[in-house]
Parts: sequence; C-alpha cells; structure tokens
Amino acid sequence: MQNTDTLFHVIDHKQFNRSILDNLCNLTTVIRTKAKSREGLLALRSLLADKRAMLYFTQPSTRTFLSFNTACQILGIQTSEIRDPSTSSEIKGESLLDSIRTFSSYVDLIVMRTLEEGIAATSANLMNSIERPVPIINAGSGKDQHPTQALLDVYTLEHGFEKRGGIDKKVIGMMGDLKRGRTVRSLSYLMKHYHNVKLVFIAPPAFQIGEDIKKELDAHEVEYLETETLEDVLPELDALYVTRMQDEHDTHNESKAVDFSRYSIGIEELKLLKQDAILMHPLPRRDEIHPDVDKDPRAMYWRQERNGMWMRAAIIAKIFGIEASIQNI
Ligand code: NCD
Repeated sequence: MQNTDTLFHVIDHKQFNRSILDNLCNLTTVIRTKAKSREGLLALRSLLADKRAMLYFTQPSTRTFLSFNTACQILGIQTSEIRDPSTSSEIKGESLLDSIRTFSSYVDLIVMRTLEEGIAATSANLMNSIERPVPIINAGSGKDQHPTQALLDVYTLEHGFEKRGGIDKKVIGMMGDLKRGRTVRSLSYLMKHYHNVKLVFIAPPAFQIGEDIKKELDAHEVEYLETETLEDVLPELDALYVTRMQDEHDTHNESKAVDFSRYSIGIEELKLLKQDAILMHPLPRRDEIHPDVDKDPRAMYWRQERNGMWMRAAIIAKIFGIEASIQNI
C-alpha cells in the first residue's frame, strides 16, 4: 500500500488508500485556490519549470489530454506529444516498450493512454528496471482502468457533498455501460475507502459492473444493488454518475442489441432526483444527458471536467514532491 508521503507511478486504482485520497483532494483545493491570482499562477508556474513531460495518447482523448497538458502548464512543465502511433517509430517495427524507454531518455514524466489494457503497468515495470526511471501515469488503459479520472471524480463528489459530510454515507448510482466503462470501474473500486457508502449499479444486464469489482466491494462489505430500471432507484440517490455506451470495444455489435435510451436523463427524470443530488458524467456524452439538463444546478459534469485539470496538477505536484512549496505560495 502506497503511503501518503510519496507517489511515483500512477497506474492502478488499487494503489490508493483513504489518506492519499484525502491528501490529493486537499492539494487539489490548494492549487485551485492559489491559481485564482496572477501572482499565485506565476509562482505555481515556476515550480516545475525545469521538467519536461511526454503525453503519449494513442487512443482518442479531448478532456484527459487537454487537462494533463494544462496541468503541466500550470506547474511550468513543458510537454511534447504523440497522439498517432503511425508517426512514431512503432511503424518501423519498434516495440512499444522500446518507444517508452526512448521517451524516458528525453523527459521527466510520461502520461499515457492506450486502447490495450496493461501497457501503463508494463511500462512502469520497465521504468523500475532501468537506470533513469521516470514516473508513468496511466491516463486510461483499455476497458479496464482510468485511475486519474477516478481521483477527479472523488474530488468532485467530496466537493459536491462539502456541506453534507463528504462521500461517507452517500447513495451513489452508476449508470450506463458499467462493464466496459473504465471510469466507473475505477471510481466504484475507490468507494470502498469511504464509510457506509451504498452503490446502485443501473445497467442492462449484459453491461452490468464486472465480477472483479463486486468481489472487491463484497470483501470490504460495501453495500450495492444492481438494477435495470433507473426510475425505481432515482429518488434514493445522492449522486448519479452517468456513462455512455463504450461501443468502440464491441466485438460483434453487442451494444446494438440493447435499448440504451432507457439509461438517460432528461428534464422528466430530473424531477425524480433529490434537490441536493449531484449529476456527473466523465464525458464525452451522446444522448445520456439531454443538453436541457445542463442549466440545472445539480449538473456537475462541466465542473467535473475542470476539476480534472486541478486534480491532475495535484497528482503531478505530488509525484515531484512540491507540496510544501505550493503551501508556501
Ligand atoms: C472517458 C474515457 O476515456 O474512458 N472519458 C474521459 O476520460 N473523460 C469516458 C468515455 O470515453 O466514455
């Protein structure tokens, strides 16, 4: 188990405990607050001006890429990027691990998103075996994990429940393609660190949350319920986390076989949601949340995406051990 004092690679939702979650949330708020003034921003920008990062994103990304890029800018880190493997020497037959090792020769941090699972973990293992290891951050690995999204989601929940005692004791609904949605898998996993949280998994049976996540929740006595019907549970929820169908992972058009329109929120569904509930979505959305919902004060997804920038700055700050310098700004 990782202690709260240090962080090197960020690969897996399993590496976090409650104290590091709380610590990262606090650091996120400190950075967000310091960045409100010009002096604060300039001071933040000087802290890691001697560092360089590589953003290796070979799977489509808007928010995660931009928020990591801007998080680096906030702390003064210069970035370079590869977003299309056909422009790298992989096309000449270089193995991905050789490419990663090459990146590490030039930069101090590698942030990576891949369609395949496990590559960030393998890259971190490679780093641990070489002379000049650089930290690896997993910015989304296939259908499996998205640890930094889970951290920003935890922050958004904690912040949203600020006046209601935080995440502890809340009923949190997760809706959509829970089987292949890496954000919801990582976030659900982290919920075991909070007291008396109840999870409600709302999905068509073929896309319900994985057995591995349920096993972990069982082991930690986290209460959860699985249902196909949103209306039955909506009035009970303190938060609803909506996700899209992850059809890029289809092998035989399986997403076309279900009526996914039942797993969406419009003005009618909002009427059933508690007045102080929080509505989240990792984005991008399709039809799961109607644009009319955006004006509702419970809609938190635009703030959630901005929180991603601050949380990612906090993660990078922690990796480079500059928390004390940030507090002193
Ligand atoms: C998510 C992802 O890439 O897993 N997006 C994100 O990082 N904000 C969710 C999705 O693509 O549905």
